Amino acid sequence: MTAFVTPFLESFASAGLSVQLCILVGLVVVVRTAKEILESIYVYFLRPAKDLKKLGEWALVTGATDGIGKAYVYALAKRGISVVMVSRTESKLQALKEEMEEKKYDGVSYKYVVVDYSNFDETVRNHLYNETKDLDIGVLVNNVGMSYRYPRYFHELKSEEVDQLTELNISSTTWMTKLYVEDMAKRGRGTIINLSSIAGLFTQPLLAQYGASKAFIEKFSRSIHVEYSSRGVTCQCHTPSFVATKMSKMRPSATVPTPEEYVEMSMRFIGHDDPVVQPFWLHATLCWVFYNFIPTNYMVAYYLSTAIKFRKKGMQKDEMIAKGIKPQKTAHKRVDPLLESLMFWRKDLKVKGQ
Ligand SMILES: NC(=O)c1ccc[n+]([C@@H]2O[C@H](COP(=O)([O-])OP(=O)(O)OC[C@H]3O[C@@H](n4cnc5c(N)ncnc54)[C@H](OP(=O)(O)O)[C@@H]3O)[C@@H](O)[C@H]2O)c1
Repeated sequence: MTAFVTPFLESFASAGLSVQLCILVGLVVVVRTAKEILESIYVYFLRPAKDLKKLGEWALVTGATDGIGKAYVYALAKRGISVVMVSRTESKLQALKEEMEEKKYDGVSYKYVVVDYSNFDETVRNHLYNETKDLDIGVLVNNVGMSYRYPRYFHELKSEEVDQLTELNISSTTWMTKLYVEDMAKRGRGTIINLSSIAGLFTQPLLAQYGASKAFIEKFSRSIHVEYSSRGVTCQCHTPSFVATKMSKMRPSATVPTPEEYVEMSMRFIGHDDPVVQPFWLHATLCWVFYNFIPTNYMVAYYLSTAIKFRKKGMQKDEMIAKGIKPQKTAHKRVDPLLESLMFWRKDLKVKGQ
């Protein structure tokens, strides 16, 4: 060590002021990056998960019958927490309840309530609350959400689509939080998980309303967390990139986890004092690379050109349907578009702009 340090200090002392400044700045950058990496390794792989049973006997998951929501039902039940499953299709909820009961997780009960979040008016809200108010709900997962069927210019969305997206992505999370946070605060324990998306962190041309609705969730969660954490209730916003579900139409790969893989990682974060998290470590690594090394203008132009391609395909499919031709089932996409954006060497992925 001394054999390295002494010559280094001697060369540093004899160097000019500008060289010394460069070395100092370099050292600060290296130390900061090393600290960030070590902290991330601890948080992603070593930090013990919270015992969520201490927050309450029950959890409530919205959008529970498929994808990420269904994986949460499993993950919570496996940890001994009873689950209220909320979704719009009763037959699917009934089937999931039976599927879960067959697993015979010790001491775990299930209940479901049918709710269509595109019409979450006062009557429906009261119905849901009355069905669940006697349960000790310690974990609320606001998972339900929707994206565009395919990317489009904002004026091309139908009014019903604009309405539905606002209801499912913004109103559902807002009202669900309002329904349950007060009781959690009275009990002095609880946690709320709000599903946002990486789309809420970056500019999203042709998915403008989706990205903006997810950005709302991020801001909302941060403030709710500050408002209630002194009363024992945390609120955490999760910002995943692609997960292999019906919504993303992606197949699993190294950067696209299955819902089960994604949720297992996310369980490590729930209840900790981090208001915004990206639970899957490769999503977080890619995001870190984009934020630190890729010019924003390049990313936005890449998103735009990719979205334009998908818009074209989606419109062709709609035209076929209008003509009564059954389109072939959409093949699941091959590569995560985020990762694709880093493949500078591929000519077919060149950013074309508007
Ligand atoms: N998948 C991704 O790559 C990804 C990435 C970032 C963020 N997210 C976010 O993660 C969340 C879950 O996404 P996902 O991919 O798991 O979705 P998904 O596989 O499409 O599942 C959606 C769930 O929501 C339910 N649902 C849909 N419309 C509903 C309505 N009007 N009322 C009540 N329930 C309704 C569905 O029930 P039915 O089965 O009855 O339709 C289903 O259980 C969303 O908020 C999404 O924005 C996903």
